[in-house]
Amino acid sequence: MAKDREVFFCKECGHESAKWMGQCPACGEWNTFSEAPKVIKGGKHSSRGGVGPKTPVGVSKKPSKITEISIDSEDRYITGIGELDRVLGGGLVKGSLTLVGGDPGIGKSTLLLQMCRELAESKVKVLYVSGEESLKQIKMRADRIGEFNSNVLLLCETCLDSVEEIIDIPATSPDVLVIDSIQTIYKEDIDAAPGSVSQVRECTASVLRIAKQLGISVFIIGHVTKEGVVAGPRMLEHMVDTVLYFEGDSTSAYRMLRAVKNRFGSTNEIGVFEMKGDGLKEVLNPSEYMLQGRPENEAGSIVACTMEGTRPIMIEVQALVSQTNFNYPRRTSVGVDYNRITLLMAVIEKRMGIHLSDYDAYVNVAGGMKINEPSLDLAIIAAILSSYRNRAVDPHMLIFGEVGLVGEVRGVGMAAKRVAEAEKMGYTSCIIPKANLTQLENISIKCIGIQNIRELGEYI
Ligand code: TYD
Ligand code: MG
Repeated sequence: MAKDREVFFCKECGHESAKWMGQCPACGEWNTFSEAPKVIKGGKHSSRGGVGPKTPVGVSKKPSKITEISIDSEDRYITGIGELDRVLGGGLVKGSLTLVGGDPGIGKSTLLLQMCRELAESKVKVLYVSGEESLKQIKMRADRIGEFNSNVLLLCETCLDSVEEIIDIPATSPDVLVIDSIQTIYKEDIDAAPGSVSQVRECTASVLRIAKQLGISVFIIGHVTKEGVVAGPRMLEHMVDTVLYFEGDSTSAYRMLRAVKNRFGSTNEIGVFEMKGDGLKEVLNPSEYMLQGRPENEAGSIVACTMEGTRPIMIEVQALVSQTNFNYPRRTSVGVDYNRITLLMAVIEKRMGIHLSDYDAYVNVAGGMKINEPSLDLAIIAAILSSYRNRAVDPHMLIFGEVGLVGEVRGVGMAAKRVAEAEKMGYTSCIIPKANLTQLENISIKCIGIQNIRELGEYI
């Protein structure tokens, strides 16, 4: 039998070519070409011919006036998990396709199983397809989460064609479908291993059609690569309506659900969860959660406020500065960028005249959050100074602000929200960039505006 001609295509942009190339002529990326066996034409479930949504059966192809299209709230299911609903933009849109990515063991399967349970309570039929675990394993997880009703159907299957057949049977046709995970399922007519670029691409295209033609809301779980992006073609993220990442440190119970793409809502929203022995619990007050167990009146502990989307979260920044026993002083950071720490220490040395070259410095964001926001600069400097001088700062004081190389304290975004959060949490004062002072209204806590890090010295 003559071997099918293979095609190569770019994992980044999907450009196809008859031969392998080092650089993609379409997007210019290097080393992104991957082999894709040709789809056997005329297969029972052949899915070639565009990946976009097809017109649902019975819908006219006439253009519609934009003013005449109505959206009603019934187009969404409320999942019953408030944090998830918020990230989805106010509930799960019917007929949408959502990709959930995250590190192994972070709790993707748990989150979606919990969602299935809640949806089933409100009489939504769900089908949970797992290509990773046996029915018994899923049931064991389900038992930890709680009681399930019979609206939840489980299926262990890796062949997408079989899943499609089950969906076609009215008795088992669901309103919401979960596929755990896209890397384990395959289509029969694609001659490649599950998880390969072409399988992932074709399976997602089929699932997209299930969502759009049948109006089933579909969730697909995606494994992430070492770099933290969903494994498979980059196009995957373009094909789906919503991309959610479930993040967190596997050593801490704290988990964050973040939308990086959402066709039905803002990508600024985050959902905060805590992994407990009986499933994921919503964290309704993340600031309180992050600050619990914080030592009071200890040198080196400062409260800062970071923004996760539009949500302020108060966190504790800790520093330990101690005389070094090494030739080169050590600098270590957990939760913040190491280079930022060395930069801020250089600014302290130069602008405040404090010599830290004989001291080791360790900086840590308590609670396992990773923060990449310059508004933390001032709190890091305050924590380092507090530990260096061995003086505790007022435990009910919030400090935030960006620090530049000449020691100036620059304004940050959403200062009013941060201060309001501190007020809500019962804090009594805050040190903030002077530039932000004018943005504060109706604030009853004491706000000190500073322009240079030298002024910080007065309070520590
Ligand atoms: P899981 O949902 O299987 O992760 P993923 O699908 O992202 O790989 O969750 C795995 C971890 O969560 C596992 O280490 C056990 C833990 N876990 C709990 O701590 N409590 C629970 O109630 C459940 C169900 C899991
Ligand atoms: Mg899983």
